[in-house]
Amino acid sequence: MKKLEYGFFIAIEGIDGSGKSTLAKNIYNYLNELGYETILTKEPGGTPLGLQLRTILQTKNTPVNTKAEFLLFAADRAQHFSNVIMPALNNNKIIISDRLNDSSIAYQGYGRSLDIETLKHINNWAMGDIKPNLTIFVRVDTNIAFKRIKARKEELTDFEKEQSFMNKVAFGFQEMYQNRTDVVTLDGNKTQEELLADAVNTIKKHLQ
Ligand code: TYD
Repeated sequence: MKKLEYGFFIAIEGIDGSGKSTLAKNIYNYLNELGYETILTKEPGGTPLGLQLRTILQTKNTPVNTKAEFLLFAADRAQHFSNVIMPALNNNKIIISDRLNDSSIAYQGYGRSLDIETLKHINNWAMGDIKPNLTIFVRVDTNIAFKRIKARKEELTDFEKEQSFMNKVAFGFQEMYQNRTDVVTLDGNKTQEELLADAVNTIKKHLQ
């Protein structure tokens, strides 16, 4: 196994149906095969508590107010950072997280119109001021994403039902990332093989 001198923390972001979860798994497999100590994790649901919160957030058996919704994601995040991210960074591992704090800015900030500065403040607190070294944004047309989600033939979650909500979230990601130097945007309309090749190119440059 190759051990890095410092941990390296990568977030994969994008709207539902962007292909980011498949990309995250493919990057994880690729880096493991190269011999890097790598972990694959996610938000929400990267810890046992997070899995319970994820069920509440996805099924919504009871109405959840928008602020409460954000705070449940933030609770998941706080647990995720203390139990998974910080220990992995301390052990100099590569971390691939399928979604992270920016999802809250896009979905709860742009999508649900909550105050973005407040969300950022609470996110930073939940994350102990630790930020990913690199964020990979998988950008895809909402029409394509919507078709992919429907083709899964799974029951749609609250976040996936309305294309107008998805459009706001997609706009949010694009606006938030337009001037960020820690973000690399990949074309999610490409095949998974092409996406993996682009992602690996970027990651290798950062690891050198
Ligand atoms: P995800 O795990 O990507 O969905 P999937 O079931 O397709 O694997 O994320 C679950 C949903 O939660 C997704 O629709 C985006 C939403 N979400 C937020 O609204 N805010 C957040 O902070 C996070 C992390 C996710």
